[in-house]
Amino acid sequence: MKKPVIAIDGFSSTGKSSISKIIAEKLGIVHLDTGALYRGITWFALQNCLNDDETINLEQLFSSFPLIELEFKNDNGELVLFLNHINISKEIRSHEVSQNVSFIAKQKEVRDFLLQSQRNLAEKGGIIMDGRDIGTVVLPNADFKFFLTASIEERTRRRYQELLSLGIETDEKFVKDNLIERDRIDSEREIAPLKKADDAIVIDNTKLNKKETIESILAYLKK
Ligand code: C5P
Repeated sequence: MKKPVIAIDGFSSTGKSSISKIIAEKLGIVHLDTGALYRGITWFALQNCLNDDETINLEQLFSSFPLIELEFKNDNGELVLFLNHINISKEIRSHEVSQNVSFIAKQKEVRDFLLQSQRNLAEKGGIIMDGRDIGTVVLPNADFKFFLTASIEERTRRRYQELLSLGIETDEKFVKDNLIERDRIDSEREIAPLKKADDAIVIDNTKLNKKETIESILAYLKK
């Protein structure tokens, strides 16, 4: 039997990635956190493509694409992101990356660069992909589509805890402002904006914990 292709989209810090990871383990399928890819490109730009005034030089970034190899590798059971063979899984969660990623992700050249590799990974089925445009653009024919949402207060709390657990110093106001700003840029951009697919199932998990959200998704998958 062909394993399912599942698209999970939604607002920042609704738990998309951690929930998708557990569902993938339960179903024996692959999980792809597409946000990590956009963060990886942003990290590369911040390292290699800065103007004298510290802004990102987009022309330089776009011309560097042939030099960028993004790869997920299994590191003690965790799928972690490598850029040109360097493990950048912690670096991509930094403040600097979070503050610039939505600007990078709205560029057509960046989205085109990442689109085909995301689709190729889903060709054989058996994948859960989380992001912002998976159900609408990347995998419009996915077998199941979900759209996660939660209150900004709850999402702030979750991201703040996540950053602390990664050892990244931060404060709640900064985290909240960054979530609001990223959601705004992601929703308003011209290409592949953050949007619920018409046929996606909406799950508001403000009052659900991770386990309950997973159970609710699994219940739909069994239907
Ligand atoms: O999922 P995460 O919060 O790590 O995503 C970081 C950013 O990457 C988002 O705010 C968005 O700008 C971008 N992104 C995107 N399309 C996706 C996944 C992420 O534009 N499919």
